[in-house]
Parts: sequence; C-alpha cells; structure tokens
Amino acid sequence: MRLNLNGRNAWVCGASRGIGRAIAHALAEQGANVTLIARNREALENVRQTLPDPDQHQVLCLDLSDPDALKQAVQAHLNQAPAPQILINNTGGPSPGTVFAAEPASFEIALRQHVVAAQVFAQALVPGMREAGYGRIINIISTSVRQPIPGLGVSNTIRAAMASWAKTLAFELAPDGITVNNVLPGYTATERLDAIINHRAERAGVSAEQIRQQMVSEVPMQRFATPAEVAAAVGFLASPAAAYITGVSLPVDGGRIQAL
Ligand SMILES: NC(=O)c1ccc[n+]([C@@H]2O[C@H](COP(=O)([O-])OP(=O)(O)OC[C@H]3O[C@@H](n4cnc5c(N)ncnc54)[C@H](OP(=O)(O)O)[C@@H]3O)[C@@H](O)[C@H]2O)c1
Repeated sequence: MRLNLNGRNAWVCGASRGIGRAIAHALAEQGANVTLIARNREALENVRQTLPDPDQHQVLCLDLSDPDALKQAVQAHLNQAPAPQILINNTGGPSPGTVFAAEPASFEIALRQHVVAAQVFAQALVPGMREAGYGRIINIISTSVRQPIPGLGVSNTIRAAMASWAKTLAFELAPDGITVNNVLPGYTATERLDAIINHRAERAGVSAEQIRQQMVSEVPMQRFATPAEVAAAVGFLASPAAAYITGVSLPVDGGRIQAL
C-alpha cells in the first residue's frame, strides 16, 4: 500500500498540541515536510524539535480567527516557501455550553475560525495542488456531524456547516484528482477533552473523574482514543493509497456513533 509522502509538503493547522500535533508526527513519519501552524510560536517550535529531521519542517504562526490577516499572511508565506499539496484544517473547538444559552456573536466567531479560515486556505492552496497534480484537504471535525453532542451547541452547529462546505468542495475538486475528506474524532485524550470534562463536572456538581467514567462507558471500546489513532486515519487519507476516496466523513470513535 502506498502511504509514502516523500517530497510532499503538508500544512497542519492546530499543530501545537493535541490531535494536530499527532497529525504532524504521522505525516512527518510518512516522509512529508510539515509546516506547523497555530498561534503559539514557542509551542510550535517545541513540536518541530520532536519531529523526525526537524530541519525539514517549518513553523508558521497564524491566527485562524481573523480571515483578512490570515489571507495576507498565507499569501506572504507562499511567496517565500514551497506550496503544500496536503492541507489539514484543524483548530480549537468552540466553547462548550447549551445552544440556547450561546451568545449570538459566538456563532460568527466560530464560523470565521472554522469555515471561513478553511475557505481562505483552500483558495490560496488549491492552485498549487492542481499544478502539482496532487491534492489532499482533510478537515478535523467531530462525530457531532452525525449525532449532535448535548452541551456543545455552537460546536454542533459549526461542524455541520464545515461538513457541508467540505462535501461541496469535494464535488468541485474531484475532476482535478484533489480529495476533500473529514475525520470525525470521538472522545480523544487531549487538553480540549479535559476542558470539556471539567466544564461538565462543574455544571453537574460532580467530580471530573465521574464524568470521565460516564463518557468512557458510552464508548463500545471502553476507552478514549489517543491522538495518534486519529492521526493514523489522517495519514491514510493524505497518502496516494487514498486517491479514490473523496467527500467522506470518517469517524474514529471506538464505535460510539450508533447510526448505520
Ligand atoms: N479531543 C477530542 O475529544 C475531540 C473530539 C471531537 C472533535 N475534536 C475537535 O478536534 C479539533 C482538535 O482537537 P484537540 O483536542 O486537539 O484540540 P486542542 O487540544 O484544543 O488543540 C487546538 C489546536 O488549535 C490551535 N488553535 C486554537 N485556536 C486557534 C486560532 N485562533 N488560530 C490558530 N490556531 C488555533 C491551538 O494552538 P494555539 O492555541 O497555539 O493557537 C491548538 O494547536 C478541535 O476542533 C476539537 O474540537 C476534538
């Protein structure tokens, strides 16, 4: 099976920790030159140092919540660095809370950081993918695309928009051989998950450990995913082996979604 990414350039958003950091590792181990993207330069540099051949990889500080600044910064970087053939759209999840209690402005903020940022990246990078004859756009979304998660109102709303954006783009870019897919992590052991557990524990007036146990019991595999397990699915979709897979949403959730 052709999983090798030698000579390919990959931009990985949200690479300073959690799932994004694990994706950076997976793609670097498959041979890609990785550009690590997030806001915290020091954290990105630390990740870069842990990748195989650190000098092969770069750090790019971007804030995905400001589309105009993002567009300019992406273009400036492209003027002095090789274009990527692989783009991983991944960023921090919206704050937890019920949908009814959400501030109306929080939907706009989340839409900018997720869907609008992905659009800015796609418009800037697809021409280079076409030129290279190789393109992979992979979005890290959530199982809430299939089954909304109580207490994640803004997130549920924005993830559905992101999945619809991706499906439409997959259709439009298929004639170029550029694939667009979503990976839907289930509960994955990262700082984001810790924050959600603490929020639920506070709201329910119980311990974080009780919430953790309850969440684990919802998963047929009876454990949370490791970030590396989510990254493995991304590594496959980024590879030549996945050339004919586009427009799919792949759950990596230990069997938690019960729908067909
Ligand atoms: N963990 C789970 O159980 C789980 C389950 C389903 C879905 N997801 C989703 O999968 C994605 C990744 O999850 P995770 O657990 O790895 O999250 P995480 O630990 O919170 O990491 C988020 C990453 O995004 C970066 N980021 C946040 N805001 C940004 C901004 N405005 N501009 C640029 N970068 C930004 C962060 O770096 P900086 O702060 O340095 O910018 C960090 O690298 C999230 O959207 C999450 O909601 C996670």
